[in-house]
Amino acid sequence: MKRGIYPGSFDPVTNGHVDMIERAAKIVDHLEVGVLNNRAKNPLFSVDERVSMLKEITKDMPNVSVSSFDGLLVDYMEEIGASIIVRGLRAVTDFEYELQIAQTNHRVNPNIDTLFLTTNIQYSYLSSTMVKEFASYGGDISHFVPLQFIDRIYEKYNIKK
Ligand code: PNS
Repeated sequence: MKRGIYPGSFDPVTNGHVDMIERAAKIVDHLEVGVLNNRAKNPLFSVDERVSMLKEITKDMPNVSVSSFDGLLVDYMEEIGASIIVRGLRAVTDFEYELQIAQTNHRVNPNIDTLFLTTNIQYSYLSSTMVKEFASYGGDISHFVPLQFIDRIYEKYNIKK
C-alpha cells in the first residue's frame, strides 16, 4: 500500500490544488492532504477552516483524507506511514525551492521520495497568494477557486458580492 501526502498551506485551496489532488489520488493508493499549521505565517484562514474546506472538496474521493500537521513533514509522514510527497510544479521558478526541499527530505529519510506533477496548463499561473490579492480588491476569483468557497474568501475581506 503506497501512502502519499500532498502537503501545503492551502490558504485558500485553489482549483490548481484540487486538480493536483485528483491526479495524485490516481497514482498512490492513499493520499493524505496535509495542511501545514505554520505559526510563523499569518494565514487568512485558520487551520481548521482550511482542513474543513479540503474535506468538503474531497468528500467523494474514497482514497483521500485530510489532516493538519505541525513541525517537520518527514516526522508527520513517519507518524502516518507515508513515503511519497506529492508536489506540483507550475513553472521553472518553483523548481529550485522544490528541489531543495525534496533533496533535504530525502537526505533526512531515504525512504521518502518526492513525486512532482506538472500543473495543468490552465492553472499554471495560479497561486493562493494571487487569489488573496485579487479577492482583497474585490476582483473576480470565480476561475481560481471552487465556487462554494468564493463567498467565504470575500467575507475575510469584509467584501459583500
Ligand atoms: O503550500 P506551501 O506553503 O508551498 O507548502 C510548503 C510545505 C508545507 C510543503 C513546506 O513548507 C513543508 O513541508 N513544511 C513543513 C516543515 C518542514 O518539513 N520543513 C522542511 C522542508 S526542507
